Amino acid sequence: MLQAELHAGRGNAPEAAALPLAVTRLTLTDFRNYAAERIEVATRPVVLTGANGAGKTNVLEALSYLTPGRGLRGVRLPELARIGGAGGWSVAARIETPSGVAAVGTGIEGRAADSDDDEGAERRVVRIDGAPARGPAALADLIRVVWLTPQMDRLFTEGRSDRRRFLDRLVLGYDPEHGRRVGAYERVTRERLKLLRDGGGDDSWLTALEGRMAEATVAIAAARREAVMRLRGALAAGIGPFPRAELTVRGLAEDLLGEHAAVEVEGRLQALLRRNRTADRDANRTQEGAHRADLEVVHLAKGLPAALCSTGEQKALLVAVVLADARLQAVHRGAPPLLLLDEVAAHLDETRREALFDEILALGSQAWMTGTDRALFERLTGKALFLGVAQGKVTDG
Ligand SMILES: Nc1ncnc2c1ncn2[C@@H]1O[C@H](COP(=O)(O)OP(=O)(O)OP(=O)(O)O)[C@@H](O)[C@H]1O
Ligand SMILES: [Mg+2]
Repeated sequence: MLQAELHAGRGNAPEAAALPLAVTRLTLTDFRNYAAERIEVATRPVVLTGANGAGKTNVLEALSYLTPGRGLRGVRLPELARIGGAGGWSVAARIETPSGVAAVGTGIEGRAADSDDDEGAERRVVRIDGAPARGPAALADLIRVVWLTPQMDRLFTEGRSDRRRFLDRLVLGYDPEHGRRVGAYERVTRERLKLLRDGGGDDSWLTALEGRMAEATVAIAAARREAVMRLRGALAAGIGPFPRAELTVRGLAEDLLGEHAAVEVEGRLQALLRRNRTADRDANRTQEGAHRADLEVVHLAKGLPAALCSTGEQKALLVAVVLADARLQAVHRGAPPLLLLDEVAAHLDETRREALFDEILALGSQAWMTGTDRALFERLTGKALFLGVAQGKVTDG
């Protein structure tokens, strides 16, 4: 009923088509350089243009907190609070999904200057349709957001943790439980390491923790393998001028699962964790588990790993992965994910840029794109909503 009203209100009621996945209202409070800002948009793609430092990426970053995880810049949550504000921040959104409209809010409370409640400041509260959710993981059931940022130009050449996070964000689209499992795994892993470090560690308690770690690692690895397998099919077929790519997830459990039953892999992992107790304590880190996996990407036409490709080729590979995922999601979930594309147009040649825009329009994805140069988005005139950003204010472009 509400959906029908919303569409009727906009005067463009779609006849039969499923609703796209889109944010139609975004409210930022004390978020980065936004004191209080409300953006109302349609379900079409959005182009944000403005000068350096205007607040374009900050809008995308706010949208990235509508999903579980550490956000587009991966920073600590208090850092997002507006300098000069009360210390808290919030992002609220109206989200249209294929199964209805939802109101989502997330953020952290400000805290008194003398408070030492660091834990509280690191945990964000999530509300869905007015009711508190158990945590950010609940957002995965509602909405999917995938992003590409200039920082990700180094995704293939730097450490594996960002690649793994990129992969895990993709996995969420195929298995919304994935975020909860990864979160639970990280908590148990921290608990075991703390016990080892503190010299405590009643054997049966450690064994129980290691059992949970092994079980979670196998479940996480299986979900990663499944998502990568699906993506491989879409990527091998190729997407327009974007390079065909081969994806592989590497990790002890991921590799073992290719040849052994899950229970056996779990048993081996648990035995390994037990053997590693002393070494893990001495190194103050857990040497094996779900947090060690990596995503390998090969440029098929060149037969080269992504890390040996040019900057532009690496970007094109990433775009190919994101578009392949969006295509699959459109079928799998009835809607492609929200795409946050920070300065992507500026990094692609004209052919690829136009192919990207055409693909976004064909998918019906609400892509939020940023750039300093509006001319690069000319092809989207009349098809996307253009907004101007200046000094923490968003205006009709
Ligand atoms: N916590 C904060 N409080 C207030 N301002 C902040 C905070 N964090 C970042 N800023 C400021 O927000 C402004 C906008 O940042 P943002 O990254 O969104 O710019 P941008 O429009 O994407 O610019 P560019 O084109 O250079 O990428 C910057 O001037 C930055 O210093
Ligand atoms: Mg920016």
